[in-house]
Amino acid sequence: MVPDIQQGATLWNPDPITVKTRVALSQKDSATHFYLTRFVKKTTKERGDLTMDNVGFEYRNKEGETAFETFLKYSNEKEKSSAVLGRILNRLLIRDGMTFLDVGSGNGEFLRLALSRINHPQRVEFVLLEPSRDLANQLRLTTHHFPCNSTVLVECSTFENLITNSQFDIILASHVPLAKDQLEKLPGIFERMLRLLKPDGSLIVVLRAKDDIHEFRTVFKSWLMGRDYRSVIIDDAVSILEDFARTMPLRISKFSAEAELHLPYPGNMRDVISIVEFFLNKKWKEFPDNVRQSVLEYIRQRKSILRHIDGFVVAEKIPSSQTHL
Ligand SMILES: C[S@@+](CC[C@H](N)C(=O)[O-])C[C@H]1O[C@@H](n2cnc3c(N)ncnc32)[C@H](O)[C@@H]1O
Repeated sequence: MVPDIQQGATLWNPDPITVKTRVALSQKDSATHFYLTRFVKKTTKERGDLTMDNVGFEYRNKEGETAFETFLKYSNEKEKSSAVLGRILNRLLIRDGMTFLDVGSGNGEFLRLALSRINHPQRVEFVLLEPSRDLANQLRLTTHHFPCNSTVLVECSTFENLITNSQFDIILASHVPLAKDQLEKLPGIFERMLRLLKPDGSLIVVLRAKDDIHEFRTVFKSWLMGRDYRSVIIDDAVSILEDFARTMPLRISKFSAEAELHLPYPGNMRDVISIVEFFLNKKWKEFPDNVRQSVLEYIRQRKSILRHIDGFVVAEKIPSSQTHL
């Protein structure tokens, strides 16, 4: 019998929406070592409803956590990848007051772990974009553990809806489904990110390489969609950014991190199904029976372990003063 897990009912908190939380941190509070000043600006409900339509169910709470967070419980991806991101940031975050835009921050754990690896933390001004209200709430809590001299602005918005006059020293986009697997949209998105960078700014993109999860998604999404499906991977991002580097001064570098997902199969089928839904962006109850059987067979054959590889590409703008040297 193939399990049929019912979905949680309430996905979004009906309370008035806190769209922005600015957290200024300085070293004082005797109990926590942090003195936290919060400026909470509440706006009307419309903005939250607007973002709600743009975020998949995988990023909304189901019985207290999002499917993305369920996935994180069984993978060492963030631990492994944050070590690589930490090394990249150690090299880039070198001046006081640098500005940092994180697109699709999720619960903020990835960035928090990477920042905890920085040897000499500078004062950084963070803007964290997260369209899922449930994840943005988690994110606000996580930012309390960012380096204490930082300022943080959490924006409950998609990148597409971001309106800003600012330019950033660093833009990070890690595993953000921005192009929604439509490769032709990716150059336009990267072009906007590069424009939002200062003349010596850096764009960091993290995406999956051709790993087991990529294979799983390719096989089963093609099946579910009834046509060939191909997800955007790190090689696509690299080749688009290398194309930009032909017409503008950009320095491109690449890194990777390997990790493993240990699916709790068959012990915790609820979590297994949540993770499958997260990968395939479809609810288990909508899967045809033969696809359910094959998904479970695939997991059994791999002894519940899926290997994954995070690819990193860093595109550093080279200021014109340096291009003539
Ligand atoms: C797989 S999670 C990655 C979270 C985090 N960056 C990390 O690497 O751990 C993808 C995140 O992107 C957010 N997201 C989805 N569409 C987005 C968009 N159009 N603009 C900005 N963020 C988006 C989701 O809400 C989710 O939090």
